Amino acid sequence: MPTLRAEIELLNEILACSMCHTSLAVTDKDVRVVCARCLSSFRKGAVIWNFMPTQIDLTAPRWQAWQELQKNGMTSYHADPEHNLAIGERVDCQQFAEFCDYRGLVLDVGCGPQPVPAYFDLNCPATYVGIDPLINDVPTHFLKLKALGEFLPFRADVFDQIIFATTLDHFVDAIAALKEAARVCGPTGVINVWLGEKRADASKPALSHEWYRRLHKPTLAEDVFHFKRLDAVAFAELARIAGLKMIKIEEHHIDDFRTNWFYRLKAG
Ligand SMILES: C[S@@+](CC[C@H](N)C(=O)[O-])C[C@H]1O[C@@H](n2cnc3c(N)ncnc32)[C@H](O)[C@@H]1O
Ligand SMILES: [Zn+2]
Repeated sequence: MPTLRAEIELLNEILACSMCHTSLAVTDKDVRVVCARCLSSFRKGAVIWNFMPTQIDLTAPRWQAWQELQKNGMTSYHADPEHNLAIGERVDCQQFAEFCDYRGLVLDVGCGPQPVPAYFDLNCPATYVGIDPLINDVPTHFLKLKALGEFLPFRADVFDQIIFATTLDHFVDAIAALKEAARVCGPTGVINVWLGEKRADASKPALSHEWYRRLHKPTLAEDVFHFKRLDAVAFAELARIAGLKMIKIEEHHIDDFRTNWFYRLKAG
């Protein structure tokens, strides 16, 4: 587990306002920090800093839908964590770790609530930072912040690598999140994306659990967990609009209906 001092030192090299990107600094005594430029204010819980953007309208229909999806996500992470989060020894997680070949300062956008995602490789020469809106306010094994991919609380050009592991299809605005990733890793960094593609005609499991049957799909969402499902064609278009260059693609066939795609992208 990182020591408080090491965490503060790292935070003070990378932290910025999630609304306007002005650099911020904190001490280990602070429980609140205010942006000198836009006056957004961010608080620390018992241990976790909360950099959720202060000025988004959570009552807007798309954010309402997203909040409902997040509640559904929480239900699934509690009821069946192994099938809904990267936990335990899994071939697909090992394949993604090999693809990423982690080096330097690595940001996981949507790292999930579990202690350490199974696709991290702790033997690599890398320091991991994670953001997720569902971070629990408890001591963590690596630096984690409560935040959104569309509004990263980091300065420009500070990360060597950004990863999105089965998260982009949960976001309200995946293009904004990719642009944010490009901003915080700059022209020398890389963005690695794991996209789980499932064909629309994939059959439903023969048996569904009671907790699953009770979930409600918001009108604006594609299903009970995903804001917008992505396939390889849709992802290529998102990357193009975000101004990213595709430099490596790996296709891992799972069955006739499901494929894991790994992408490496760079700004420009
Ligand atoms: C299927 S889980 C994947 C978690 C983790 N990457 C893993 O593979 O175990 C999707 C994650 O995306 C997060 N998420 C949803 N919307 C997000 C957003 N706008 N910004 C960052 N993370 C988001 C959720 O809170 C959730 O932890
Ligand atoms: Zn600000």
